[in-house]
Amino acid sequence: SIPPLQDAQGRLIAYLRLSLTDRCNFRCNYCSPSEYEEPSSVLTRPELARLVGVFARLGVRRVRLTGGEPTLRKDLVAIAGDVGATLGVEEVALTTNGHRLAELARPLRAAGVGALNVSLDTLRPERLGAISGRGARLADVLAGVDAAAAEGFPHLKLNTVVLGGVNEDELGDLVRYAWARGASPRFIELMPFAQGTPVPTARVKALLAAQGVALEPCEKRGWGPAHYMRERGAGAAARHVGFIGAMTENFCERCNRARVAADGGFQVCLGGEAQVPLGALLRGGASDEALEVSIRQALAHKAPRHHMEEASAGLVKLRPMMGIGG
Ligand code: GTP
Ligand code: 5AD
Ligand code: SF4
Repeated sequence: SIPPLQDAQGRLIAYLRLSLTDRCNFRCNYCSPSEYEEPSSVLTRPELARLVGVFARLGVRRVRLTGGEPTLRKDLVAIAGDVGATLGVEEVALTTNGHRLAELARPLRAAGVGALNVSLDTLRPERLGAISGRGARLADVLAGVDAAAAEGFPHLKLNTVVLGGVNEDELGDLVRYAWARGASPRFIELMPFAQGTPVPTARVKALLAAQGVALEPCEKRGWGPAHYMRERGAGAAARHVGFIGAMTENFCERCNRARVAADGGFQVCLGGEAQVPLGALLRGGASDEALEVSIRQALAHKAPRHHMEEASAGLVKLRPMMGIGG
């Protein structure tokens, strides 16, 4: 049998984040670098299906589709179906800005997407414009969240990047908004890819308490870097809030993931080393075995943790978030 994918630190890699495009119709100032260039070619649907097959054979069980904005791909629903039909893949997940979800929630659910993460940094239209650019329309995003809630996705999460001086005063409102729709709100620490003032998770928890959200610790949940707290004193009916403390609560020790960027670059860490050009190898006629060797070699060089602090200090330059998909 095939040995499972492991990185240099012995961490098992069972979760693949697959970026379907570098394009995005939003321009979030914490994500888009000013000098960003679109790649020359993105992987086609058959190329994506082949790569997912290779990763699944090596033990990947969960695939998250990301971007850029994955809903800009015309063949998104078909790709989601392909991924879900891949032998070994147990869950297909998607992260989106929500602008096309009102129309896509139903076909995505029907195609087998089980987990949906929607970015929602604010409930105020003018703030969304300031954060994400004039092309971002809050009404579309909220209609998308409602459509997703109506489809009954097994996991529906709303991602908020907490931005100092921008949305700190509406964290409680975001929790109540999510809970009212059966979704889990999550608060993300800003990572240093572009602009913005980070707010540490400890401070986010204090803000939530001050804004009327009482929480208590709870059991570990999920597959990812988030840790969760639950509604205080609500017993079995308690709803949850997630926290992703990428900077102040480093979780790299538990890393279980790898990424394929839109152009087919294999990236072993979000805030780390250079890529192995899997897409180019595949187009050059590489066999599945040759792809496997490249994947294992890249993981053998994966560092114990990300280099984001070094990037903040200007010591290293990270590849833009937009091409990797978070
Ligand atoms: P789940 O599978 O639902 O736990 O998803 P997720 O939290 O991994 O994915 P999502 O796309 O919703 O990302 C939420 C935030 O977590 C984004 O800011 C991502 O950039 C960040 N994130 C996801 N994976 C990693 C990771 O491996 N390392 C770091 N540093 N951040 C990550
Ligand atoms: N720091 C933290 N999260 C970020 N995201 C985009 N840029 C950053 C950043 N610099 C988030 C988006 C989306 C998820 C995929 O990544 O808001 O929810
Ligand atoms: Fe894994 Fe890199 Fe994310 Fe850390 S920053 S959890 S090592 S991908």
